[in-house]
Amino acid sequence: MLVLGIESSCDETAAAVVDDSGLVHSEIVRSQVALHAPYGGVVPELASRDHMKGITLVIRQALARASVDFGGVQGIAVTSQPGLSGALLVGVQAAKGIAWARDLPIVAVDHLVGHLLAIFLRRPTDGSTAVPSYPFVALLASGGHTAIYRVDGPALSQIRELGATRDDAAGEAFDKVAKAIGLGYPGGPIVDRLAAQGDAARFPIPAPMARRDSLEFSFSGIKSFVARYVAEHGKPQTPAEVADLCAGFQRVVVQSLVTKTIRAALSEGVTTVVLSGGVAANRELRRAAADACARVGLSLAVPPLASCTDNAAMIAYAGALRLARGERDDPSFRTATHTALLRVTRKGRGPRAA
Ligand code: KG4
Ligand code: ZN
Repeated sequence: MLVLGIESSCDETAAAVVDDSGLVHSEIVRSQVALHAPYGGVVPELASRDHMKGITLVIRQALARASVDFGGVQGIAVTSQPGLSGALLVGVQAAKGIAWARDLPIVAVDHLVGHLLAIFLRRPTDGSTAVPSYPFVALLASGGHTAIYRVDGPALSQIRELGATRDDAAGEAFDKVAKAIGLGYPGGPIVDRLAAQGDAARFPIPAPMARRDSLEFSFSGIKSFVARYVAEHGKPQTPAEVADLCAGFQRVVVQSLVTKTIRAALSEGVTTVVLSGGVAANRELRRAAADACARVGLSLAVPPLASCTDNAAMIAYAGALRLARGERDDPSFRTATHTALLRVTRKGRGPRAA
């Protein structure tokens, strides 16, 4: 079964044609990074307008590259939540329009479920990468979300949050720290690159939420540490100082992500850990997770970079699994800014759950 996937929840306009085995027949990602870069973050209204500009072209390109037309796909999958309202609406209205005009079944996909299932995508150019089997524990770290899940299967009811960030997402912290230091946007890939040359021990940033039993994260304190440093000392002047600050920051974020993910996997008794979301592109995270998993006998599955950052292939695949089972959504479904997954972590300060 071939499915057209559409993604417009944040700052990528994307479309892909994927089958229900996870094979990617085509994928197009039109990034808005250059549009938002001058502002150091995503400007929602600009994002919506640019999705409007690009959506038709992106869908046409994805179909053309897969050598199919609308008659050649058996269903449409579109991100309906979570994301920016105006941005989501563009993809959802395009998808509903196509489904109505072509009499195709349509399913609404939760963006986070897409990220969690991205590990199952295969591209014709991939080598023989082993795919994990259920159940697994997944770290999802992106610009908007950071949480650990137990994944027993692809359905919403089979995915359980074990712990999430109480404040900033990990990617958001990367972006804000890069902005504070005066680096570009998005900050994650830049910090990743600069940290490789830095000395992480020069700025010993305290580890957040280090309580052994907690699977929750907090990244706002680390971000504030860097902001305070810049307020007191000015922006780092030398390349070495920039690199050391990036390395110190990245080290605590990565250690926090890895330590808690491993703890979750061990306490859930699963054998496999999966990384997902844009921050899973981080090289130190990939390396540290591999080392930590090897030490305790867990196997680690890491998607290729194109599957980590936002894309429509993961949405098409998540939707294809439902469509292949004969499921479909009533085309009156709505968008939402929050995820459909059950959340257990309380945001903000205040008493923590035991
Ligand atoms: O999953 P994603 O593409 O979009 C969201 O759903 O948010 O994630 C984007 C986030 C951004 O915050 C970006 O800075 C971060 O992922 N990111 C990285 C790296 N590449 C992207 N963070 C750290 N290291 C990277 N190499
Ligand atoms: Zn995402």
